Formats: sequence, structure tokens, C-alpha cells
Amino acid sequence: MAREIPKTVVVGTAVTVVVLLALYLLTKLPSGGETAKVQSAGSRLSSGQVSFTGGDKCATCHQRVTPDIVYQYATSTMAKSGVKCEDCHIVNKNNSMGHDHEGFFITSEPTPKQCGKCHVRETDEFEHSRHAGPAWMALTGFDDFSPEQQKLTESIPELTRGPNGIPTATRNAIFDMEGPNVTPAACQSCHAIGKPNKDGSIGNCNKCHLRHEFSLAQVRKPEVCGQCHLGPDHPQEEIYKESAHGVMYATEGQNWNWNQKAGRLTTRDMPAPTCATCHMSGFGGQGTTHEVGTRLTKFLFAAISTDRPNGEQNRRAMQGICANCHSQPFIKKVYQRADSVTSFVNVKVKEASDIIAGLIKDKVITSKPFATQISYDAFDLWHYYGRTAKFAAYMQGPDYVQWHGVYPLLRQLNKVKEDAARLRAEHRSGAKR
Ligand code: HEC
Ligand code: HEC
Ligand code: HEC
Ligand code: HEC
Ligand code: HEC
Ligand code: HEC
Ligand code: HEC
Ligand code: HEC
Repeated sequence: MAREIPKTVVVGTAVTVVVLLALYLLTKLPSGGETAKVQSAGSRLSSGQVSFTGGDKCATCHQRVTPDIVYQYATSTMAKSGVKCEDCHIVNKNNSMGHDHEGFFITSEPTPKQCGKCHVRETDEFEHSRHAGPAWMALTGFDDFSPEQQKLTESIPELTRGPNGIPTATRNAIFDMEGPNVTPAACQSCHAIGKPNKDGSIGNCNKCHLRHEFSLAQVRKPEVCGQCHLGPDHPQEEIYKESAHGVMYATEGQNWNWNQKAGRLTTRDMPAPTCATCHMSGFGGQGTTHEVGTRLTKFLFAAISTDRPNGEQNRRAMQGICANCHSQPFIKKVYQRADSVTSFVNVKVKEASDIIAGLIKDKVITSKPFATQISYDAFDLWHYYGRTAKFAAYMQGPDYVQWHGVYPLLRQLNKVKEDAARLRAEHRSGAKR
């Protein structure tokens, strides 16, 4: 009869083996979480789980140096179509953004000039949108533009122009007031979407098409736009979250067909729209556009909103998108409601700006912007509350029309009126003294 091994010995040995194995594995594991991530990307690549068909010299070396970049890029549609690292990064010797690197002349910041070699239409549309030159003009006027870049920007139909037809482009008072200690981490970071580049091109596709996946699924989601379109002066992301559309996205979006080819999207792929669907996507027969102004009726960002040069045509384009999912009478009603909010806001903003203009004319306050408290208050009135109410009326955010919009606007108007009366009284008694 075989001798029985006592149970305690079996369990004891097993425990010892497990503990020793665990200790051994621990010494083999890389230290920081960061290293672990990089190694796993590298091993996914070398194990052949992901293959990069580019096969160029950059990728071969960078598989060791920056494996995550190579891995991310390998998963993109572009890598699968044979576009290589060098197609975006290698530039001509006369390109002032280039530098020598491992025997190549490269740029570490590919601009629309590189993308435009292959994506001619998208680049042309982007350059003629307010996402390009006008976004940077909003900070420094034309100060940073070459004559060619200025000429291109002046040709944009969606540009706001003064009464003489000349594009409105002055340096922004807040930009200069805050200065270079602040603006690189603030205004410039968002508005760099349209910064003029040293190679002659304008802007940065990469602000939306995050490197190196350049994923359509990603750029169609509202979080991408929400990098910049949020906060008290342009709360589009917050408004969208409040709308029925945003709720559909948040609750069912994980089942939508995000990777449908551009131009082929329909309600079957997404039963409710995201920012991209309404403003950019080809949807239900209408083509994709990077000219984000072509579906907008009014200049809503302005203190007092007027119609755009092609407003009527643009309105039909946007309503054509809605019509994939809503009836014409329904769409008309939504627009009528929103137009009437816009008119209401216009009247109140005009009232406040007339009060300020009167104070300046009568030398009660200086014309220098942001030199007096009432100048800040009048700015918040339209820049925060007026804009918010208008955006929310078109994009279905009732709380933003009401409690973040019209109500604080009325409160602010009252404050401006009372303060103006007080300032005038002080001014009169000061003059008598
Ligand atoms: C022999 C190896 C090798 C080759 C070949 C190589 N690189 Fe690099 N690259 C490096 C190393 C090393 C770094 C520095 C990485 C770091 O500091 O984290 C680097 C950094 C970079 C950077 C960022 C910093 C900078 O200098 O701008 C870019 C962009 C870049 N490489 C692109 C490329 C491209 C595009 C190619 C092909 C045309 C290429 N590399 C070929 C090794 C290489
Ligand atoms: C479709 C164009 C495109 C391709 C292809 C491409 N890149 Fe890039 N790359 C970019 C853009 C855009 C940036 C970011 C520029 C910026 O910051 O404005 C970038 C940045 C980089 C950087 C600097 C990143 C950092 O954070 O320091 C490195 C390194 C780099 N790329 C390497 C590669 C390598 C290696 C490949 C091939 C596997 C590759 N790129 C393929 C467009 C591309
Ligand atoms: C050498 C040519 C070339 C260059 C340079 C290039 N692309 Fe592409 N791009 C392509 C090709 C080819 C495709 C794949 C088209 C397809 O399969 O529908 C593509 C596809 C795309 C897509 C769609 C991805 C998808 O999933 O359908 C985006 C977005 C994109 N490119 C952005 C960029 C950006 C941004 C740059 C510059 C930083 C750039 N490309 C530079 C050739 C290029
Ligand atoms: C979070 C990103 C972000 C920051 C930071 C930011 N902006 Fe903007 N800005 C935007 C967006 C998005 C719009 C577009 C609003 C719209 O069209 O509804 C805009 C619109 C504007 C406009 C109106 C459009 C025009 O061309 O006249 C001006 C002016 C402006 N910004 C100036 C500034 C200045 C100056 C700063 C810094 C003091 C700044 N912005 C900081 C994102 C930003
Ligand atoms: C404001 C964000 C944004 C910027 C900036 C942007 N894109 Fe796009 N792009 C999108 C969106 C959203 C889509 C998806 C459209 C759709 O759903 O059909 C897209 C789609 C594309 C596609 C694939 C669809 C097509 O039209 O073939 C290409 C290629 C592309 N973009 C290239 C570029 C290039 C090149 C630039 C810079 C010159 C650029 N994009 C700048 C948001 C942007
Ligand atoms: C990196 C910041 C940034 C990102 C990301 C961004 N935008 Fe913008 N957007 C701006 C700025 C800045 C302006 C204002 C430009 C101006 O009028 O001066 C603007 C303006 C607009 C306008 C008004 C254009 C006009 O003609 O008045 C629309 C519509 C818009 N963006 C939609 C989008 C959508 C949709 C996305 C996402 C796919 C997006 N944006 C992503 C910064 C951004
Ligand atoms: C249901 C469609 C729809 C969705 C979804 C949507 N928008 Fe809009 N958006 C509109 C309409 C309609 C207007 C008003 C256009 C007009 O008549 O001028 C507008 C106005 C804007 C403006 C103001 C442009 C100006 O004149 O100042 C910006 C910026 C903008 N949207 C960005 C976004 C962003 C970012 C998102 C996602 C967070 C988004 N939109 C989601 C339909 C939509
Ligand atoms: C891809 C389809 C789709 C598109 C495009 C679309 N919507 Fe919607 N919309 C929906 C769905 C789905 C709902 C949720 C239906 C519900 O409230 O029961 C909705 C809800 C709404 C509501 C709220 C209805 C309510 O009873 O509260 C309004 C208002 C609205 N949409 C307006 C618009 C406007 C204006 C546009 C164009 C600028 C537009 N939609 C574009 C699908 C769409």
C-alpha cells in the first residue's frame, strides 16, 4: 500500500511554490506603470499582433525609441493604406520648420502643408474656415501673418467685416492685458487651431485629429470639440450634454457605428447627432465639410448677432441635416424659437452698450477697455450670458437659455444701469467741487 503524503505537506509545498513564483515574477516586472505600458505596446508590435506595413527606417528604429507612437500609428487607417512616417515628417531642406535627425531632414510638428499633399480638399476647406486664420486673428489681429497668409484669410467668406467691408482685426485687449506669462497656456492653446505656421501654412489639423491614430471614431465624438468649446463664454459641450441628442449619445453611443466611411454616415449609424454630425459630417446625402461656417445662419459669437453673408443658404444646409430625423414643421419651430431668443438678447445687449457708449462720450469713464468695473460688467453681459442664451436656444439647452443665460443677463443689465447712474452722479458732484 502506497504511503499517504499528509495533507498539510501538500498544502505547505503548494503555498511555498506560489509565493516563490510570485516573488520571482515581481523581480521580472518593470518598475513604473509607464514602463509597463511602453513595453506592452512594444511586445504587441513584435509579437505580430499589430503590423506596421510602412516598413520605413523611421518606424524600424522608433519601434525601440517610442514604441507607443509606432503602435498607435500602426492601428490607423493611414498606416494600413501604406502612408509612412516620412510622408508627414520629412520636409524640404528650405523648410524653416525642419531640422537634421539621424540622417534625415524632418519636422517634429507636421503642419497642414504636409497633410495637404494628399488631403487637398479638406485642407483647402479648413484654411477657408474660421477655425484657421480668424481664430488667431482673434488674439493678435494680422500681426503674426505673412502677406500671403493675410491675403488667404481675407478671402474667407465667413469673415466678420466692418462697415467699410474691411475684415475686423485688431489686437485683443485681454490678450495684451494678460500678456506672455499667461496667454501661451490660455488663449493661445485653443486658438492655435488657426495659428499661422512658419512654412506658410495656417493652423493645426492635429488639434482635432489627435496623433497618431487619426481616428474617425474619435474625431466624431463631442469630447474632441469640448477641448475648446466649453466654459461660460461658449458652453457648447455643456449645452449638448443637456440636450436630448447628448443624452442619446451618453446612454447609447457605445453601440453606434463610429467607423462608417466619411460621407456614408446615416441615421442607421447614429440615431442622434454629435457636434460633428450637425457641423461637419457628410450625413444622409450631404457632403463632409471642414468649412464649419457653411451651416451657420448668424454670427452668434458677436455681441449683437447679424446674418452671415450666405446665411439663408447655410440655414438650408443645417436644416437639411436635421431633416434626416425630424419633420420640416418641427425644425421650423425650433429655429423660430431660437431666432426670437436671439432678437431679445440683441435688444438687451444694445441697451447696455448704449449706456457704456454714453458714459464714454460724456467722459464719465475712460474709453480704455477693462479700466473700470462697469466695463467688465458690460463685457460679461454679452460675452457670457448673451452668447450662452443664444447658443443654447439653437442647440437645445433650456437651462442654459434660462438660468445661465437670460436671467443673469437681466440681472447684469440692472447692475450696469444702477452703476451708470451712480457714476454719473459722482461725476456731476466731482465737477461741482
Ligand atoms: C536610428 C534611430 C532613429 C531613426 C532612424 C529615426 N529616429 Fe527619430 N528619434 C530617435 C531618437 C533616439 C529620438 C529621441 C527620443 C527621445 O528623446 O525620447 C528621436 C526623436 C524623434 C522625434 C522627436 C524629437 C525631434 O528631434 O524632433 C521625431 C519627430 C522623430 N524622431 C521622427 C523621426 C522620423 C520621421 C524618422 C524617419 C525619417 C526618424 N525619426 C528616424 C531615433 C531615430
Ligand atoms: C499623418 C501624419 C503623420 C504620420 C504618418 C506620422 N506622424 Fe508623427 N506626428 C504627426 C503630428 C501631426 C505630430 C504632432 C505635431 C504637433 O505637436 O503639432 C507628430 C509628432 C511626432 C513626434 C513627436 C511627439 C512628441 O510628443 O514629442 C514623434 C516622435 C513622431 N511624430 C514620430 C512618428 C513616427 C515614428 C511615425 C511613424 C510610425 C510617425 N510619427 C508618423 C504626424 C504624423
Ligand atoms: C502621403 C499621403 C498622406 C498624407 C501626407 C496624409 N494622409 Fe491622411 N490619409 C491618406 C490616405 C491614403 C488615407 C486613407 C484613405 C481611405 O482609406 O479612405 C488617409 C486617411 C486619413 C483620415 C481618415 C482616417 C479614417 O479612419 O478613415 C484622416 C482623419 C487623415 N488621413 C488625416 C490626415 C492628417 C491630419 C494628415 C497630416 C498631419 C494626413 N492625414 C496626412 C494619405 C495621407
Ligand atoms: C478653452 C479654449 C479657449 C480659450 C482658453 C480662449 N478661447 Fe477664445 N474662443 C474659443 C472658442 C471655442 C471660440 C468660438 C466661440 C463661437 O464661435 O461660438 C472663441 C472665440 C473667441 C473670440 C470671438 C471670435 C472672433 O474671431 O472674434 C475672440 C475675440 C476670442 N475667442 C478671444 C480670446 C482671447 C483673447 C482669449 C484669451 C484671453 C481666448 N479667446 C481664450 C476658445 C478659447
Ligand atoms: C475642428 C476639428 C477638425 C479639424 C481642425 C480638422 N478636421 Fe478633419 N475631420 C473632422 C471631423 C469631425 C471629421 C469626420 C467627418 C465625418 O464624420 O464625416 C474629419 C474628417 C477628416 C478626413 C476624412 C474624411 C474625408 O473628408 O475624407 C480627413 C482626410 C481629414 N479630416 C483631414 C483633415 C486635415 C488635413 C485637416 C487640417 C488641414 C483637418 N482634417 C482638420 C474634424 C476636424
Ligand atoms: C483647439 C480648439 C478647438 C477645437 C478642438 C475645436 N474648435 Fe471649433 N472653434 C475654435 C475657435 C478658437 C473658434 C473661433 C474662431 C473664430 O471665430 O475666431 C471655433 C469656432 C467654431 C465654430 C464657428 C465657426 C464660425 O464660422 O463662426 C464652429 C461651428 C465650431 N468651431 C465647431 C467645432 C466642432 C464641431 C469641433 C469638433 C469636431 C470643434 N469646433 C473643435 C476652437 C476649436
Ligand atoms: C442638432 C445639431 C447640433 C449639434 C448636435 C450641435 N450643434 Fe452647434 N449649432 C447648431 C445650430 C443649429 C447652431 C446655430 C447656427 C446658426 O443659425 O447660426 C449652432 C451653433 C454653434 C456654434 C456657434 C457659432 C457662432 O456663430 O458663434 C458653435 C461654436 C457650435 N454650434 C459648436 C458646437 C459644438 C462644439 C457642439 C458639440 C458639443 C455642437 N455645436 C453641437 C447645431 C448643432
Ligand atoms: C441623426 C438624427 C438627428 C438629427 C440629425 C437631429 N436630431 Fe434632433 N433629435 C433626434 C432624436 C433621436 C431626439 C430624441 C427624441 C425625443 O426627444 O424623443 C431628438 C430630439 C430633438 C429635440 C428635443 C425634442 C423634445 O421633444 O424635447 C429638438 C428640439 C431637436 N431634436 C432639434 C433638432 C435640430 C434643430 C436639428 C438640426 C439642427 C436636429 N435636431 C438634428 C435625432 C436627430
